[in-house]
Amino acid sequence: MFLPQEFIARKRDGLPLERADIERFVAGITDSSVADSQIAAFGMAVFFNGLSMEENVNLTLAMRDSGRRMEWRDLDLPGPVVDKHSTGGVGDVVSLMLGPMIAACGGFVPMISGRGLGHTGGTLDKLSAIPGYDPFPDAARFRELVRTIGVAIIGQTNDLAPADRRFYATRDITATVESIPLITASILSKKLAAGLDSLVMDVKTGSGAFMPSYEKSLALAQRIVEVGNGAGMATSALITDMSQPLACCAGNAIETAEAVRYLTGAARTPRLHEITMALCAEMLIAGGLSPDETDARTRLQAALDSGRAAEIFGRMVAAMGGPVDFVENYARHFEAAPLVRPVLAERAGIVGEMDCRGMGMAVCALGGGRRLASDVLDFRVGLTDLVERGQPVDAATPLAVIHAADEASWQDAARRVRQAIVVADAAPEVLPLVCRTLRRDDILEAS
Ligand code: URA
Repeated sequence: MFLPQEFIARKRDGLPLERADIERFVAGITDSSVADSQIAAFGMAVFFNGLSMEENVNLTLAMRDSGRRMEWRDLDLPGPVVDKHSTGGVGDVVSLMLGPMIAACGGFVPMISGRGLGHTGGTLDKLSAIPGYDPFPDAARFRELVRTIGVAIIGQTNDLAPADRRFYATRDITATVESIPLITASILSKKLAAGLDSLVMDVKTGSGAFMPSYEKSLALAQRIVEVGNGAGMATSALITDMSQPLACCAGNAIETAEAVRYLTGAARTPRLHEITMALCAEMLIAGGLSPDETDARTRLQAALDSGRAAEIFGRMVAAMGGPVDFVENYARHFEAAPLVRPVLAERAGIVGEMDCRGMGMAVCALGGGRRLASDVLDFRVGLTDLVERGQPVDAATPLAVIHAADEASWQDAARRVRQAIVVADAAPEVLPLVCRTLRRDDILEAS
């Protein structure tokens, strides 16, 4: 008979875990025969003792198999099924552009996105700002949209990797979210259940990242690449800078509008463009659609310049229930915040360190993020016209324009923005946007 307490004790004592026992424990998480206390104890044992690579792959596969697995082969799609996942950031609106850009280059992108977590924004919240957009089509409709349009961005459903849902909820309240093997199993089990051929991970580093240091971001990226490939999905990772918001804005409707301007070419901020192109290029290479980065970037630029990526985005929005003229008239479909006013730098100097997490919290405090899972978002609010690190400012330069529901929340956000942005006398050290790319071969060479 399988006894969860004996399984937990093995991990507590640093003994190896058998695949069959991992599968039994995960089955117990899914059917509730394992108690919350046992899930919590196992999470803590892994937090301290880690998982071997084999155990991590087995845990990930068992969690993948705890629910429905999507299958694409029967559709005979003329291109690979590919996706990107980010560990979360501020002003990170890449997914909204990347999906249509990859579809325009021949890939198929079934993107299952999440709500905002803590200070980070969520793709699902940004799309939910579009009037009528229904992110929960049934499974058959989702497949049809991916087949006919090339991309569909939807919300997480309960039937994909249900063991992760329960495990994550327990980790969240028992201080084990930060375990690298558990984060890896959590993210990859959902991506594997989506039936992808390949995945590109965007692992953030810097003051707005989920991981507290570059070393931890690197360790997470390495683990994800190794376990993803070990579980049979071509997986690579880019470690990218999150020491300041990626776009020059943050907020739900605000970022969705930025994505439209990017796709149509009305405005394309260099930092956002570089990260989007780098992630898209890696996806085209990983999916076998481009032989190298030069070819990939040429094709992606053509997808933007021809208007094809913007057209695909418009078709996706309309098919999901949004306005048919969204790309052309996005501004008409969004309500403006009642109070839109800049917060000024107050002293002359150069924009130095940024507490990017603090900037994300300013958006949350405005009502653009959740403090409780049940909170209702105010899609109108956020920050625009953000300064960048290294930019010279004087006392009258706006650090940001704050879009607020009322004066009190404007004042609170202004205090948070001023606190988060240091105006210094010397230029800061600015990290490269893409700090490192990790592919399967890099991991094999290192081992
Ligand atoms: N995101 C996930 O999906 N899982 C984790 O464990 C952490 C972040």
